[in-house]
Amino acid sequence: MFDLLITDARLTDGREGQDIAVLGDRIAEVGAGLAARGAQARERIDAAGQLVSPPFVDAHFHMDATLSWGLPRVNRSGTLLEGIALWGELKPTLTADAIIERAMAYCDWAVARGLLAVRTHVDTCDPRLLAVEALLEVRRKVAPWLDLQLVAFPQDGILRYDPARDKPGCTDSAFDLLKKALDLGVDVVGGIPHFERTMDSGRESVRLLAEEAARRGLRVDMHCDETDDPLSRHIETLTHETQRLGLQGRVNGSHLTSMHSMDNYYVSKLIPLMAEAQVSATANPLINITIQGRHDTYPKRRGMTRVPELLAGGVEVAFGHDCVMDPWYSLGSADMLEVAHMGLHVAQMTGEAAMRQCFAAVTEAPARILGLEGYGVAPGCFADFVLLQARDPIEAIRLRAARLVVVRRGRVVATAPRQASTLALDGRPASVDFMIRRPG
Ligand code: FE2
Repeated sequence: MFDLLITDARLTDGREGQDIAVLGDRIAEVGAGLAARGAQARERIDAAGQLVSPPFVDAHFHMDATLSWGLPRVNRSGTLLEGIALWGELKPTLTADAIIERAMAYCDWAVARGLLAVRTHVDTCDPRLLAVEALLEVRRKVAPWLDLQLVAFPQDGILRYDPARDKPGCTDSAFDLLKKALDLGVDVVGGIPHFERTMDSGRESVRLLAEEAARRGLRVDMHCDETDDPLSRHIETLTHETQRLGLQGRVNGSHLTSMHSMDNYYVSKLIPLMAEAQVSATANPLINITIQGRHDTYPKRRGMTRVPELLAGGVEVAFGHDCVMDPWYSLGSADMLEVAHMGLHVAQMTGEAAMRQCFAAVTEAPARILGLEGYGVAPGCFADFVLLQARDPIEAIRLRAARLVVVRRGRVVATAPRQASTLALDGRPASVDFMIRRPG
C-alpha cells in the first residue's frame, strides 16, 4: 500500500502515461501501468496526461528585502543605484519581526507556485546582523515545506563598507560581520566585487572571500559584474580563485551582465576557463532586462549575460528571480515560469531544445547549483513535485501554467483550480484553455 499514487503523468523528458508511487517522503516507483497492475494507495491523483515536474528552484533571491515595495518610498528611477540607496534608507527602520513576516508571506507564495527551494542572499552589512538572524529563523520555520539556502551577502562591499558609519565605536570590519553571519549558520559565501571602490579592491575581495569559503568548506555565490562596463572582469578572478583553491563545482557567478558587453575575443577565452573550473552562472532575466542598459540611449543593450553561449561551452546556467516587490523591482509573484519566459525572450532561446533548456534553468540546473539532495522525479528521490496544467515544459512556459497540485515530501501542500475562460459566443465552444487540440 503506497501513501500516494499519481496516475497518467507526463514527465519532463517526454515519457507519457507514467504512474508515480510515493511511500512516506520518497518516490518508491515510477513507471507505466503501476495502477493497472493493482497498485493501491491511500491517496490517488489523476494527472490526466499533464506534466509532473520536479519543483521549481530559485538560484538567486533577496528574501530580506522582498515585499517591502513602497517602504519608505518607491524607486522613482527604477535604477540599481537608487535601489541600493533606497535599501540603505530602509535598513535602519527594519525590525526582525517585519522581515520574518514578509519572508514568510513570500514563502507562502512560493509554495503555491511550486517553488520549493530558494537560495537567498542576506545582507551582512549591518552591525546588528538583523536580517541574518531573521532569515535563520525563517529557514527553520519553513524547512518542512521549502529548502531555504542563505548566502552571506555584503551589499555595500566587504572593503568599502565601514560598520562604524552605522554604529559609532563598532570595531568589526564588514568582513568580520560576514564571518559572524557564517558562524551563525549562513550556508554560502557571497560578495559584490564590482561595488568595491576600485577594480583592485574588487579583485582583493574575491580572493579574501574565496579563501574564507575554502577554509570553511562552503559554497560560493557572488554578485559578480552586475554592470554594463565591459571591463568589469571579476568573473575571471572568481574563476581563477576557484581553480587555485580547489573549489570546482561549488562556485556560482550571479548576474555576470558585463559579459553581455565584453569583447568577443575575450569571452572566447573566458567561457572555457569557467567550464574548466566548473563555475556555474545565474542570470536574472527580469532584473537584468530592466536594470541594465540604463546609461544607453539607442541602441539600448539588453544586458543579460550570454546564456546560450555559456550553455554551449558546458557551463551550468540557472535563471533566478532576484527580486519581488522590493527597492529594485516592483513586480513579480514567485513565479519561476515567468522568469523562464523572460529569459527565453531576452536570450532569444526560441528553438525547441533551447526552450527546454529555459525550463531546466528554473528546475534541474539550479537544483545542481544549490547541491540539493534527492531532487527529481525518480525512485529514491524526495516526493517533491508539481502537477502543471500543461503537457510539456514548453507549454508550461508559454502559459505560465497553473500549479494544479504541489507535493512536498509526499504531502499535498498546495492546489489550484484549472485555468479556463467561459465563453458566451453563438456557435463557438463554451470555454477555452489556450491549448491546441488536433484530431488524431
Ligand atoms: Fe541579487
